[in-house]
Amino acid sequence: MTVVEVIQRSTEFLQRHGVESPRLQVELLLGHVLKLPRLQLYLCHDRVLAEAELDTLRTLVKRRANREPLQHLIGSTSFCGREIRVSPAALIPRPETETLAELTVAALRGLSTGTPVALDFGTGTGCLAIHLATECPPAWLHAVDLSEPALALARTNVAAHGLAERVSLHLGDGFGALPAGLRFDLIVSNPPYIPAGEIAELQVEVRDFDPRAALDGGTDGLDFYRRLATESVAWLNPGGGLFAEFGDGQQTAVAALFSAAGWRRINVHRDLTGKPRVVEAWREPATP
Ligand SMILES: C[S@@+](CC[C@H](N)C(=O)[O-])C[C@H]1O[C@@H](n2cnc3c(N)ncnc32)[C@H](O)[C@@H]1O
Repeated sequence: MTVVEVIQRSTEFLQRHGVESPRLQVELLLGHVLKLPRLQLYLCHDRVLAEAELDTLRTLVKRRANREPLQHLIGSTSFCGREIRVSPAALIPRPETETLAELTVAALRGLSTGTPVALDFGTGTGCLAIHLATECPPAWLHAVDLSEPALALARTNVAAHGLAERVSLHLGDGFGALPAGLRFDLIVSNPPYIPAGEIAELQVEVRDFDPRAALDGGTDGLDFYRRLATESVAWLNPGGGLFAEFGDGQQTAVAALFSAAGWRRINVHRDLTGKPRVVEAWREPATP
């Protein structure tokens, strides 16, 4: 079978199984199997696939039809232009989180501290800590996650980006997992924020393949903002800031939680699709 025939048949197969953007998905899978950039496929439409290549592709296409995310099948994704390994151990980094990443980079660069220290709360694959450490040397990053498999994946990613010296990983429940006495200039978090009762209605790819601990934000989805707004205070240096992603429709409630906990300069930022997505909040600077 040729490249063009395989693309056609597999696209029809995924379409019948209700997979979104089926042709794109097939092209990305085929590019992965043939180790070719997707656009190169257009230059070799008549190439005949070897039996082994066809077998590998068939297996991947069937798994995709069963709604396994493309990124799990390929084993990686791109986050802010960096390759991040992914697996069922941790949430697949999302494009909207790139907004959080870029805002935090700008804030970290704007600090007057010589070597700023930042915390990534709920690091998952480690994508945010990796981006911040790479973009803001000599900043020191701490990253915490409750999930041991997620933290193992983060460790692999941190090492692959050559950042093991400047990114410290901690296993456990939020601030309770951190060594006493640590203080941060900035905290970044993309916490779980889906209301527990809405998880069953999510897209199959998310519901069945992202870890529940990465999604479940409690009854109203706001559990982690309550914790961040109150518990962060003791871990921040005077004048320190916090950037956190939130879900659709949570803007007012999240901003109100930070306001009630005495934070100042509270701003909400939109993601690239124009939706309110990130809250920024700061502590009072030290009094002279
Ligand atoms: C929405 S995911 C974000 C992952 C990654 N930061 C990203 O943006 O792609 C939230 C992460 O928080 C972690 N988490 C959940 N509860 C936690 C807790 N109590 N303490 C630390 N991490 C927690 C989950 O295991 C998950 O990896």
